[in-house]
Amino acid sequence: MSSLLVDDIGELVTNVPTPGGGPLGLRRDVALLVEAGRVVWIGPARYAPAADRRIDAGGGAVLPGFVDSHAHLVFAGDRAAEFAARMAGEPYTGGGIRTTVGATRAASDDDLRDTVRRLRDEAMRQGTTTMEIKSGYGLTVADEARSLRIAAEVTAETTFLGAHVVPAEYAGRPDDYVGLVCGPMLTAATPYARWVDVFCERGAFDADHARAILTVGQAAGLGLRLHANQLGPGPGVRLGVELGAASVDHCTHLSDADVDALAGSATTDDPTVATLLPGAEFSTRSPYPDARRLLDAGVTVALATDCNPGSSYTSSMPFCVALAVREMRMTPAEAVWAATAGGARALRRTDVGVLRPGTRADLMILDAPSHLHLAYRPGVPLIRQVLHNGVPQCRL
Ligand code: NIG
Ligand code: FE
Repeated sequence: MSSLLVDDIGELVTNVPTPGGGPLGLRRDVALLVEAGRVVWIGPARYAPAADRRIDAGGGAVLPGFVDSHAHLVFAGDRAAEFAARMAGEPYTGGGIRTTVGATRAASDDDLRDTVRRLRDEAMRQGTTTMEIKSGYGLTVADEARSLRIAAEVTAETTFLGAHVVPAEYAGRPDDYVGLVCGPMLTAATPYARWVDVFCERGAFDADHARAILTVGQAAGLGLRLHANQLGPGPGVRLGVELGAASVDHCTHLSDADVDALAGSATTDDPTVATLLPGAEFSTRSPYPDARRLLDAGVTVALATDCNPGSSYTSSMPFCVALAVREMRMTPAEAVWAATAGGARALRRTDVGVLRPGTRADLMILDAPSHLHLAYRPGVPLIRQVLHNGVPQCRL
């Protein structure tokens, strides 16, 4: 079995908390050994075992690969003009979703596949080694099923978002559309999906609809996640906590009761994570979520891109880390944890987002000595190498 040693590591972020290493579990003067796609040893560099191959990190920081737990990659077309109009003062309402639905329905499987792979590769070059991908721009039984089938070709973390908006052909008949989502669409989606999600928001789906969809999704064996409290206050966050969702995403407009519910869940065995998506606030010119309030209340926080052609067309987790630090007052350590271990919690994964013997050898090597540089040097391509399942992804 071929082994790979990563050494000359300037700083290793393990996310295994240690007394001296803080929550990021920082270690120095260590090397890391990979076999069969897994980390098998981390220890003092001077005791590093012999290995078949070696990667010299050149004194750069090594971190777990980013876990991007919220992305919408199965779509066609773009909405650059809508973005330009927003930057000129138009508000974001989510109405443009239907434009992308039209383009997605008209696209071939290969067109959709090319877009998914292009964006997945783009994300990988920026350090993302686990990516959740949602459907939600098909909104017919056949188009949702094929969106998930194509997503499942590149990730195990697939999410059925048939309840993204009520499509035009069901205008004024939301109950009928929810019946379709809960019935034939869920049946067609389930073989390709791990999760079910609902856009619970004024103008999309209300709490009763969301509850109905999540309940039947759960009965079909899917885990729960929710788009909640993005455009205004609402019931989504509390509903997600009540139903035991793995994550409630956006969390831009929160009441005290929402924060209390999340904080209460944080002390349970299966907490509901608050996933913050600052790329959406950036791209819709909206106020950022109050990350400090959540962190200070003890809530588990994740960061993700929300990559989609409407509200956040970025695949860059380093960009989201930089935004979270500068605009949301997260410390660099909190933001890096949220983008790695936090994302893993939001997907209820224990094999990624952390580097210790037994976890997947998913990691990135920076052209910088410390994780601090991800926020300190925004917009700079600092990621020199990415290992996914122990396989180097970048030509050096
Ligand atoms: O997470 N909020 C709903 N869905 C996406 C936006 C989709 C779009 O505008 O196309 C989001 O921001
Ligand atoms: Fe989203």
